[in-house]
Amino acid sequence: MKAINGIEDFNSRIKRILITEEEIKTAIAKAGKDISDSYDGRPILLVSILKGAFVFMADLLRAITVPCEIGFMCAKSYYEGTVSTGVVKITMDLEQDISNYHVIIVEDIIDTGRTLNDVVKMLKARNPLSLKVITLLDKPSRRLVDFVADVSLFTIPDHFVIGYGLDCAEIFRNLPYIAEYTE
Ligand code: IMP
Ligand code: MG
Repeated sequence: MKAINGIEDFNSRIKRILITEEEIKTAIAKAGKDISDSYDGRPILLVSILKGAFVFMADLLRAITVPCEIGFMCAKSYYEGTVSTGVVKITMDLEQDISNYHVIIVEDIIDTGRTLNDVVKMLKARNPLSLKVITLLDKPSRRLVDFVADVSLFTIPDHFVIGYGLDCAEIFRNLPYIAEYTE
């Protein structure tokens, strides 16, 4: 992809808005309520996969009304432009021992499924009380490994998307909505 230079160039890469701020807000309010209802009285640890899921994590956390803790892991999936290379690396691990928690992995998007497949295997081996996955976005048509999230807020077609934490070459995370990217 070409480097992005200035506001006009930045705006020209945003092809169209796929999911608005309002739609995201409504879906997260419901997801937060569902988690609050079903986990009340249990020790919850929300585990966000950095960097992409940090915005979703921040909003989901504030939609949860029962006690919960948070943790972060950094899983880097290597992309060449907008194409996944299939290489996933855990570059930062959780600081918590998860064996006394009901863990909810909070992810931005499931594409090939490789990242979460690896992360879930790794965390299950640490014997949490339970483990579930919530993802903001899901592109099921792109799966290369068989992976299904417990909760998925939006299913989207096979477009490369940006915004609300998701990047293209580290740019566009600051957009408050989900948009389709174009060169
Ligand atoms: P997977 O391992 O192929 O499922 O990819 C998951 C990771 O790739 C996500 O956590 C994102 O960081 C990144 N990713 C996948 N698709 C997109 C996209 O359309 N836009 C931005 N990042 C993406
Ligand atoms: Mg990313």
